[in-house]
Amino acid sequence: MGWNSWNWFKENVTDKDVRQAADLLVSSGMRDAGYVYVNIDDGWQGQRDKDGVLHSNEKFPDMKALADYVHGKGLKLGIYSSPGPKTCARFEGSMGHEEQDAQLYASWGVDYLKYDLCSFHNGVMRKAYPGDGAEGMVAQYKMMREAFEKMHQALLKTKRPIIYSLCQYGFDSVWQWGPEVGANLWRTTGDITPTFDRLSLIGREQAGLARYSGPGHWNDPDMLEVGNGKLTLDENRTHMGMWAMLAAPLLAGNNLSQLTPEIKAILTNADIIAIDQDRLGKQADRIYAEGPIEIWARPLADGSRVLAIFNFGEQRSYLRGISLHLQQSGADNGWHARDVWDGKDLGSISDTTHFTVPRHGSILLRLSK
Ligand code: DGJ
Repeated sequence: MGWNSWNWFKENVTDKDVRQAADLLVSSGMRDAGYVYVNIDDGWQGQRDKDGVLHSNEKFPDMKALADYVHGKGLKLGIYSSPGPKTCARFEGSMGHEEQDAQLYASWGVDYLKYDLCSFHNGVMRKAYPGDGAEGMVAQYKMMREAFEKMHQALLKTKRPIIYSLCQYGFDSVWQWGPEVGANLWRTTGDITPTFDRLSLIGREQAGLARYSGPGHWNDPDMLEVGNGKLTLDENRTHMGMWAMLAAPLLAGNNLSQLTPEIKAILTNADIIAIDQDRLGKQADRIYAEGPIEIWARPLADGSRVLAIFNFGEQRSYLRGISLHLQQSGADNGWHARDVWDGKDLGSISDTTHFTVPRHGSILLRLSK
């Protein structure tokens, strides 16, 4: 859990923005709710000197001092690079300098690296094996894995614990081999945007991926857009609730200096965070889908279950004639339900209990025997 600069600041992020985010994580209570990583995304890189050592650009005058500042607040620092010659925003990448860069990050005190495929994919891989034939694709994907493994080895050599986050949009079913190249998390999708269409599509596409995720190696459906764009209260809650069901990394991507009480309440809801961070680490799977209504469920370490009823449609839904599929969730008729967002005990529940779910809304129920 933490914050990342990209969704709001894009490549314009500065040292000042990052320090301010660190300050605000503390003063808003977000750090104490669990958001401890402060991750600088694309846009910090300057040029390499004659020895190949990369320097930060003029927006980041002193990375070590910034890391010290962030650490001084009880937070951790994340950074970003690419296995290609350039990053997505055309800054300097790590190709041919993997060990040098890893050592540099470690010397600054970096705790997290997001490694974003970009120019390696569009340039290096395609140039090496042009064409769309199956053989070429196999060879390209092999190159991609080797590039991620190379940085993995470089990070290990630093002897500093650094979280390794793969960003390659789910190519080649990364969830099947991410752990082999040392990834602690891997993006399963293309980029999120602060629109309900995009974030709900990403959420729904995670069906079937639960078995690949677990403690130490997580599916990453991309960073949060909670508080960004024109998302409504229900949409923000659906987004956060869905990411919690997915045991997803929670990297807030909003401008913390504009944090409203409603958004803060969503991001710091202790019951939602407890679901996301549950130590069993079992991501939810979809157990029912009919048109815009979906029911997802996940088990928690204490034997309880969480059932999420989503309404992705444009109309309020009264769920008439829909079974809640309690058995499929591992619960049963007569279990006790608690509405997680409302914090209300609903007493015992059955498959035929009625709920009304607003447009783009969701209901999360924590079920216990
Ligand atoms: C693409 C990634 O998916 C985004 O999250 C962000 O890191 C940008 N690249 C940065 O250029």
